[in-house]
Parts: sequence; structure tokens; C-alpha cells
Amino acid sequence: MATSFDIEPADATLGAIIRGIKINALDKRMWEALHEIWLEYALLIFPAQHLTRGEQIDFARRFGPLEAEMLKISNVKADGTLYTLQQDEEYLHLLEATHEWHTDSSYKPIHAKGSVFCAEIIPPGGTQTGWADMRAAYDALDPALRTRIEGLCAYHSFHQRHLKRGHTISREIDAKVRDDGLPLFGLNDGPPPLRPLVKIHPETGRKSLLLGQHVCGIKTMTEDESERLLRELMEFACQPPRTYHHSWQPGDAVLWDNRCLLHRSRPWDLSLPRVMWHTRIAGDPVTEAAL
Ligand SMILES: [Fe+2]
Repeated sequence: MATSFDIEPADATLGAIIRGIKINALDKRMWEALHEIWLEYALLIFPAQHLTRGEQIDFARRFGPLEAEMLKISNVKADGTLYTLQQDEEYLHLLEATHEWHTDSSYKPIHAKGSVFCAEIIPPGGTQTGWADMRAAYDALDPALRTRIEGLCAYHSFHQRHLKRGHTISREIDAKVRDDGLPLFGLNDGPPPLRPLVKIHPETGRKSLLLGQHVCGIKTMTEDESERLLRELMEFACQPPRTYHHSWQPGDAVLWDNRCLLHRSRPWDLSLPRVMWHTRIAGDPVTEAAL
């Protein structure tokens, strides 16, 4: 399909940097072209967009209903002060958990479709977010391992994963951080959803590994066996050329396909403010539902 914007593929199996468009002003033809490119690269980076919160929501909505309109992912409170380890340990553990590879909302009944993520305040010295391509990981697996995991299913849990890291996340944290202008939304207190280890993409038909820090156990295996296999798969999957890290500039916008990528934020100096805005696109209640 002919497009009138520049596509610069990243030096990885995923991702492209898109220039020459304003994503808040796409006509139908341009959006359709962009949608196709998104399905191909899974991660699109749009430098210097400087979207308003409303424009970010409108752009995300073109990809489907939203799971969450606007989440402030930040160490800055509503009153402008910073979270500190002394006073806000629990919240900072939540932020810290995003440094591990994960996929959004896999611990809820419906796994998210994708996200639009925008940078407002970036600390001097920069900060990065990384993505890992689970389609390429599946394709590159040793055939014997691919056969071994076919048909396996795993439980996904937010709380169990935090417990394993030695942290409990209290039920009150959700309301507490909402008062600071940082809404969380449902960490899922229900039974952990069961999901296949190999996911078929509902739009492209491609197979990918469904992994990440919220996977807390393969159904038919002992805990040891399951941990060993999950570690082996993660170590293999999250390696170049299947990973890409973006160094943020204020005003950048990113769109990713949560159905076939993992992502992680990289640590930054918490004495410096960082403000990012996240809009989460809801998964299809049929294809992204738990088993
Ligand atoms: Fe995330």
C-alpha cells in the first residue's frame, strides 16, 4: 500500500521509526496504511508528536475500545513532589516491577491488545523502554523445544509474581495512588487466568510465545520444572536481534502490539522526575480471553 510517510525499520526483528506524519491528523487511508505497518513491525515509534492527552486517547481509540484511557506512569505526585523510598516504598516497588519483561494485563481475564505511550518529562541523561519480539522468538526456537511447548498453558498472576519478588502489593495501593493522580486499575483479585504458552495472533495468524514476569506456573508441571522451562524460554526470547530499546525524548509517542511483544522500562535516577502517559487498548474479548 502506498504511503506518504517515512518508515525506518529498527535494527531488530521488530520496530520501525515513523516520520513525516502527525498521528493526531490521519485520514482513513493513512490510518489503514499505518495499521498494516503496525501489524508487520509490532512497534512503531513516532518522534516529536507532542500529543495532548485528548489526542493520545483519540489516536488509541482508532485501534479499538480502550481498557484504560490515561495512566500517568511517573515518580511525580499530583502535588509535584517526588515519591521517595522512605514514604512510598510500595508504589516504587510497582514502578520497579516494570523493569522486568512483561506483557500488559495478561493477569486479567482479558489480555490487552496494545498501548500508546507518550513521553512528557524525561530526566537529563535520558531513559529507555525496551521491547522483545515474541514472534521472532517462537520462529527461532529449536524445533524440539517448539514441539515440547506446543499445547502447554500457564497461569498469569500479578500478586503471585510480586510475592515471589518478596513484595506484597496491598489492596489499598490502587486507591492510594489514585489520590496522587496515578490511577492503577484492577490488579485482579480473581483466579489467575490460564493462557496458552504459544499464542496465535488474531489478525496476522502468526504464532508467538506468551511469556513475561506475570507467568507464574505451567499447568501440567511441577514448580521447579515450570520455573526452569520459563527461565530457558525467557533467556532465549529476550536477546538481540529480538529486542529493541528506545531512548526517549519529550514529545515522542510509541504504539505497540501487546499481543506479540514483551516490554520493560529501564531504571532511572528516582531523584529526577519522569512523566510518561499510557493509554491501553483493550484486547478482543474472544481472542484475548483466558482459557
Ligand atoms: Fe507495562
